[in-house]
Amino acid sequence: MTVATKTYTPAEVTAFYDAHRTVRQYRTHADGSPLPLPADHLEAILHATQRAPTDATAQLYSLIRITRPELRARMAELTTNAHIVTASEAFVVCADVRRVERVLEVSGRQAGQWPAIAVHFGIGDAVMAGTNLLTAAEMLGYQGCWIGGVLNGLQGIITELGLPQGVLPFAALTIGTPAENAPYRPRVPRPLVIHTDTYHDGSDDEIREAVQVMNPIAARGDQPGDWARLLTMYFGQGGGMEKREPGLVAALKRQGLWAGAE
Ligand SMILES: Cc1cc2nc3c(=O)[nH]c(=O)nc-3n(C[C@H](O)[C@H](O)[C@H](O)COP(=O)(O)O)c2cc1C
Repeated sequence: MTVATKTYTPAEVTAFYDAHRTVRQYRTHADGSPLPLPADHLEAILHATQRAPTDATAQLYSLIRITRPELRARMAELTTNAHIVTASEAFVVCADVRRVERVLEVSGRQAGQWPAIAVHFGIGDAVMAGTNLLTAAEMLGYQGCWIGGVLNGLQGIITELGLPQGVLPFAALTIGTPAENAPYRPRVPRPLVIHTDTYHDGSDDEIREAVQVMNPIAARGDQPGDWARLLTMYFGQGGGMEKREPGLVAALKRQGLWAGAE
C-alpha cells in the first residue's frame, strides 16, 4: 500500500529549514499574558508530536504542558528563561520510562533493570517528539525555543511537576508568534559534521575555519562574536556544564535512572 504524501521541492525544503530561528520574544496580550493558539493549531502540533517515530514501539517520553500563570513564572525562574511566561505554549519535554513499566506491571509482568538504556531511549524519544512539535509549529508560522536551562533547576522542576521515578526533564520548549527579528544563525561547515564512510577528524585549520564561520552566533549587540569564548563559558574548565553536572547526577539518582556504581 502506498501512502499519499505531499511532496516538496528541494528548494522548498531548504527554504523551510532556512526560516527556522530560535525565537525568545513572542506576541502577547497587552498585559504581557500569552496569546493562546487557535485550538486546531494546537491540536495539529500535539498530533505531530505523537507521530514521532519511537524506538522499540515504546514512546519513552512525556510532555508536561505548562498552563497556570504561577507555574509558568516558577518554571521561568527555575530554568532562568523568562520567555516561558510569555510564550503561547510552554512544555517540559521529559524522558519517561515509567509508563512502559506500568504497562508491564498492569499486564502482570516484571520490568528489567536497564537504567542506562532508559536514558538512551528516553532522551532519544523525547528529542524526536519535541523536534516534531517545533517543526509542526514552524509549519504553522510560529517559532520557538528549546530550553536546556531546565538543568539549572532540576530538583525544583521534578518537585513542581510531580515527576515520578523514571521521568527526567530533558528540556523545556516554548512556541509562539515571533515579536523579534531573530538572526539567521550559522552552522559548522558540513565536512566536520556529515562524515562519509569513516569519521573525519577535522584538521586544526578546518577547526579554525569553523570557528570563524560560527563567530557571529556569539555576537551580542555591537560586540563581535567569539564562539570559542562562548564554548569555553559553557564547556571549559569551571564553565556552566561543570556546574550543572552534579545536579544532573543527583536528578538521575533521584529518578532511579543512575547506572553508575552507587
Ligand atoms: C537542547 C537545546 C537547549 C537549548 N537551551 C536554550 C536555553 O536554555 N535558552 C535559550 O535561550 N536558548 C536555548 N537553546 C536555543 C539555542 O541557543 C539555539 O538553537 C542555537 O543558538 C541555534 O540558533 P537557531 O536555533 O536560531 O538556529 C537551546 C537549543 C537546544 C536544541
